[in-house]
Amino acid sequence: MDKLRIQGGQQLEGRIQISGAKNSALPAMAAALLTSDELILENVPYVNDIYTTRRLLRELGAQIELATDHSVRLRIPKIESIEAPYDLVKTMRASVLVLGPLLARTGRARVSMPGGCAIGARPINLHLKGFEKLGAQVRTEHGYVEASCERLTGADITFDKITVTGTENLMMAAVLAEGRTVLENAAREPEVVDLANLLMKMGAKIEGAGRSTIVIEGVRELKGTTHRIIGDRIEAGTLLVAGAITGGELELTGIHPAHLMSVVEKLRENGVALDVGAELISVYGPHDLAPSDVETLEFPGFPTDMQAQYMVLATQSNGISLIHENIFENRFMHASELMRMGANVRLDGSRAIVAGKTKLTGATVIASDLRASASLVLAGLVADGYSLVDRVYHLDRGYEKLEDKLRSVGAKIERLK
Ligand code: EPZ
Repeated sequence: MDKLRIQGGQQLEGRIQISGAKNSALPAMAAALLTSDELILENVPYVNDIYTTRRLLRELGAQIELATDHSVRLRIPKIESIEAPYDLVKTMRASVLVLGPLLARTGRARVSMPGGCAIGARPINLHLKGFEKLGAQVRTEHGYVEASCERLTGADITFDKITVTGTENLMMAAVLAEGRTVLENAAREPEVVDLANLLMKMGAKIEGAGRSTIVIEGVRELKGTTHRIIGDRIEAGTLLVAGAITGGELELTGIHPAHLMSVVEKLRENGVALDVGAELISVYGPHDLAPSDVETLEFPGFPTDMQAQYMVLATQSNGISLIHENIFENRFMHASELMRMGANVRLDGSRAIVAGKTKLTGATVIASDLRASASLVLAGLVADGYSLVDRVYHLDRGYEKLEDKLRSVGAKIERLK
C-alpha cells in the first residue's frame, strides 16, 4: 500500500489549479444513464472514485472514454444490466446514485445496499422513501435494493433530513417521471446545483436548485450535451488550510469562492488574510492563528468535509477551539492519529475540544477515511521531522495528485509505493 512521506516545516508559495469536484462529477456521470445520446463532461477529476464509477457504468452498458484533457465521453445506447453489484458498491457508496436514473430510464433497478462506513451508519432510507413516493415498489433483500415501476409519477417529497445524494437521486428520477415533483428540505450544495444545470442542458425542467424547495416537471426524454464540472470546494478548502498553517502564500485558481465562503469567513476569524476573485482565492498564512469555534452544517454552513482539516488548524491556533460535528456520528477518527503527533484534543460525543498552539512531531499515522487522510497530510506539513501517512488509498479516492500539487508550491512530500 502506498504511503506519503512528509518533511514538515516548509512555507508553501505559489499557484495551484483546483481540480473538478468529485462530488459533482459522480452524479453527473450517473446522469448519463438518463439518455441514449452522448454526454461530454469536462474538468473531471481523475481520482479513484471516478474510475470505480466508470467500471460500474460499463457494467450497466456504457461506453466511456477518459481523455487526457480531463474530459469524459459517455454514451449508453442501451441499458445492458440494471444491477449495481456489491463488489463495486462496497468500495464506493456513491454508487447508489445509479438507482434513480436506472428506475427513471428502465423502470427497474437492483443496487447493493451500501452498508456503513468509517464516518457513520449512513443509511439510504430517505432515498428509498422518496422512490416509493414516486410510485416505485421498493424492497430490500439479500443485501440488495430491488426497485421497479411502470413509469415514475411526480409527487411531493419532504426529506426528514437534508441529504445531498438523496436530493440528487430523486432529482434524477423525477426529471423523467410523469408530472410534477416538489422536493422540500432539499440539499442546497453547489454540487446539487451543478447537477441540476447539467440536467437542464439535457432538456430537464427544474426550478429552485440551490434552494430548499426544488420543483421538477417530468419530460418524456433527455438529450446529450456538454457540461463543465465545477471546481472542488473541498480540495480548495484543504489547500487554504495548508497555506494558513504553513505561513505561506497560495493562489488557488479554478474555484468559485461563493462555494466555500463559510470556510473563507472562518479562516478570517482565525486571523488569516484571504483575497477572493472571480474564480480564484488567495491565502496569506499569518504568523499567529487565533482560535475559533466551528460547527458543521449543511450548505451554506461550514462543510463536514472540512472538519478534519480544520482540526489541524485548531491545533496550531493560540487557545481553545470547540469543534461540533453535526452531520456524521463518527467523524473524529483522525483525532487519535493527530494526538499521536502531539495534538491536544479531547473528544466529548459530537464535540472535540482542541487546545493550541501545540508543537506537532512527525510520526507514522494511519488514514481512516478520505478527509481524515487529508488532515494527516496537513499535520505532516507543520510537524517537526518526518511523518509517514499510511493507507493513502483513502486520499486517492478524492484528491487528484495532492502530493504533486503540494510539492509544486514547496512542500517536501513524496509517495512511497
Ligand atoms: C454527500 O454524502 C457527500 N458525498 C459527502 O462527502 C458529504 O460528507 C455529505 O454529502 C454531507 O455533505 C457525495 O456527494 C458523493 P447525506 P451523502 O445524505 O449524500 C443522513 C466526501 O468526503 N441520512 O447528505 O451520503 C446521513 O447518515 C464525502 O467527499 C439518512 O439518515 O450524505 C447523514 O447523517 C464523505 N438517511 C446525513 O443524513 C438517508 O437516506 C447527511 O448525509 C440519507 C442520509
